[in-house]
Amino acid sequence: MKVNFTETVLRDANQSLIATRMPFSDFRDILETLDHAGYYSLECWGGATFDSCLRYLGEDPWERLQKIKNEVRHTKLQMLLRGQNILGYKHYPDDVVRKFVAHAAQHGIDIFRIFDALNDFRNIEVAVDEALKQGVHAQGCICYTTSPIHSIEKYGAMGKQLEALGVHSVCIKDMAGIMGPKEAYDLIKVLKKSIKIPVFLHTHSTTGLGPMTYLKAIEAGCDGIDTAISSFSGGTSQPATESLHYALKQSGYQTGLDEKMIKKVNDYFKPLKAKYASSGLLDPFVMGTETDALVYQIPGGMLSNLIAQLKAQNAIEKLDEVLSETPKVRKDLGYPPLVTPMSQMVGVQAAINVLSGERYRSISNEVKAYLRGEYGQAPGEVDAELIAKVLGEEAPITSRFADTLEPAFEAAKAKLGSLARSDEDVLSYIAFPQIAEKFFSEREERESKRITYSIVRVEEEIAV
Ligand code: CO
Repeated sequence: MKVNFTETVLRDANQSLIATRMPFSDFRDILETLDHAGYYSLECWGGATFDSCLRYLGEDPWERLQKIKNEVRHTKLQMLLRGQNILGYKHYPDDVVRKFVAHAAQHGIDIFRIFDALNDFRNIEVAVDEALKQGVHAQGCICYTTSPIHSIEKYGAMGKQLEALGVHSVCIKDMAGIMGPKEAYDLIKVLKKSIKIPVFLHTHSTTGLGPMTYLKAIEAGCDGIDTAISSFSGGTSQPATESLHYALKQSGYQTGLDEKMIKKVNDYFKPLKAKYASSGLLDPFVMGTETDALVYQIPGGMLSNLIAQLKAQNAIEKLDEVLSETPKVRKDLGYPPLVTPMSQMVGVQAAINVLSGERYRSISNEVKAYLRGEYGQAPGEVDAELIAKVLGEEAPITSRFADTLEPAFEAAKAKLGSLARSDEDVLSYIAFPQIAEKFFSEREERESKRITYSIVRVEEEIAV
């Protein structure tokens, strides 16, 4: 039996370990080797990479993708897309979602892994449809969480719903690394029974369960897993590519991986890891095993955000209170999976509830929008008192929120004028307006300087 490997070093490992700060120049020279290592796909775009390129790295994310594509000619390139949220924190109108998917496909994305934070699949329909139109692989994603209202049967039904949308495969996304081996086995069994398309599993090593979870998932028939090359594996990242390959090969599975090539990949990334560790970008803390997520049932990233937030407000002694408030807020909101943007919303609201001394005395704008139905259908029942407090007599929206949004692409294009050089620029701007605008002006500046330099050089040459 074949198990497909998706390498995450360029995206999720990069995001989970070093806050997505790896510049293109650091990995350019290993792309050809990665391309010949036998991976099913390379996850290299989406998630936080897009934002980080514009905000911190001074790189055009579209150009980065194109440059990766130029080197990677055999292996499929994969991205993580937040459905109607694209790569941001709110819903965008359909014209923007379609344009984004179309341009990403044209720049080289072969597999779109598409999720909605609430598993409200109305919010991934348009992105899936556009991926299908572009003739690329659309993977529908189920965000995994545990709660009194989530059950294996419900996840099985979600798989069927996704299959009916026409996706090529389904992925279970365990962003917090809280799925245990037994849960994985039962879940994959149910999905393999209820749907015909391949099932992939995505988890993290955070709690230490990852490798066991993958093994049991594969025993239940899982078709593919996400791993990170060993120097960028473990902790908040994925389990190691080489170890999983080794273990699976021993049991008679085919992985398609070339051992010499993956060794070369790891030899390349090892010194980079050392470089990031010595610059402080890589905090050794995130490489370890952190079982608190199993106790609090919240993702590691969310926990560190909460700690940072409380420290900034000189209120770290309130951490225990905030941690016991978090599941209560989550319950009030109908048990959303704690993935972007829900993890941030629930965490911030729990902190507000504790620090203000009264639950929901103040409610964040995002939670208000959530209660109005702007993020979609909550998985469970939302607290009626809380809805009444925010909406009064008004009823929340039950239709798909994006249906209420006006097309936005042409207006943004007109507004940007000559600052945008392409439709891709317009999409960057819609996703991150201030950051993209700053990026564009800096680009203009850089290039006008370059032109002046070259004119000076020509004049010098003439003088000579
Ligand atoms: Co992940």
